[in-house]
Amino acid sequence: MRLDKFLSETGTLSRSESGRAVRAGKVLVNGRAAKSPSEQVDPERDVISYGGETIRYRRFTYILLNKPDGYVSATEDGREKTVLELLPEKLQKMSLFPCGRLDKHTLGLMLLTNDGQLAHDLLSPRHHVAKKYRFSVKFPLTAEEINQLEKGTVLDDGYETKPSVIEADPDGRGGVITLIEGKYHQIKRMMESVHNQITALERITFGPLSLDESLARGEWRYLTEEEESALHTYQTHR
Ligand code: URA
Repeated sequence: MRLDKFLSETGTLSRSESGRAVRAGKVLVNGRAAKSPSEQVDPERDVISYGGETIRYRRFTYILLNKPDGYVSATEDGREKTVLELLPEKLQKMSLFPCGRLDKHTLGLMLLTNDGQLAHDLLSPRHHVAKKYRFSVKFPLTAEEINQLEKGTVLDDGYETKPSVIEADPDGRGGVITLIEGKYHQIKRMMESVHNQITALERITFGPLSLDESLARGEWRYLTEEEESALHTYQTHR
């Protein structure tokens, strides 16, 4: 890869700034001043620094979003606002997509990435990635209904859900449910199977990731290095 491409892709410098920085001797490749912005570098092996700081190469981008109400989990939609529209323009050009869907009115943790392999593995039914959702329901859940939902309940299309865990609030009107699968509108349909109705739903964890309480609805941030490596370890050790 060209050095100036590396510098712009990592968000360090634009192509024209790269030229100036290289000529000023501010860009080092493996400790030596780079000769030209067009020189070839290997982002995986070469140590490249600018102004004394080593630049971390990100092959893929991972973003944690606190999804607000009213946005659909898609990259494009003719009618609805998409979660991608919550990101700055620069990020909208990076082929990011939501790793798993949340309904238009579901809130909370959403991972956006352009790492297709990781997303594929995390979403694969074989991997049973755990997801926790905070929910509220219209009618109080009884102990019997909770038991049915936890053991496996039959949805409107005849599918029997895998075991889940419910930590119900004392009044039964909500709680936290942990799922290890992700069927279409699963929690809504699970509650319908016990003649109840979801009134609010928020995802609070996805595998090793937790919703960052410091992000307001609609806000996002990059995953930290620890979160990124936790995701990769989670994926490979299953
Ligand atoms: N289950 C649902 O019903 N909706 C979601 O958005 C996620 C899980």
